[in-house]
Amino acid sequence: MSKEKKQVTVGRIADFPVGKCTVVEIDGREIGIARLKNGEYRAVRNHCPHKGAPVCKGFISGTMVPGAVGELVYGRDGEILVCPWHGYEFDLATGAVIYQESSEKLLMYPVEIRNGEVVVTV
Ligand code: FES
Repeated sequence: MSKEKKQVTVGRIADFPVGKCTVVEIDGREIGIARLKNGEYRAVRNHCPHKGAPVCKGFISGTMVPGAVGELVYGRDGEILVCPWHGYEFDLATGAVIYQESSEKLLMYPVEIRNGEVVVTV
């Protein structure tokens, strides 16, 4: 059985600072709107799949990416949401946790910009 989806305008572009996950409420659900440095937006449930933290109280960052042996390489800046409780890193492209043996994912919603407004489909 599938629930009917609806589109909700959650604010204007200026309401969502770049590099932050700003929480809005839709039908009693807290949803974080992440405005990425590359101009894209993501909408994620403010609930960490690990132990239930309000994941949007974490921060958006990059992560260590594969490099040569003995070399530390930072990359993907502004594409990773880090949970405030245990530091799990979530890929904001997919919601998947990275660098953990886990299939846990952030719950993500489609988000688009229409006439300067941010619209989430829930
Ligand atoms: S509750 Fe988010 S990493 Fe543990």
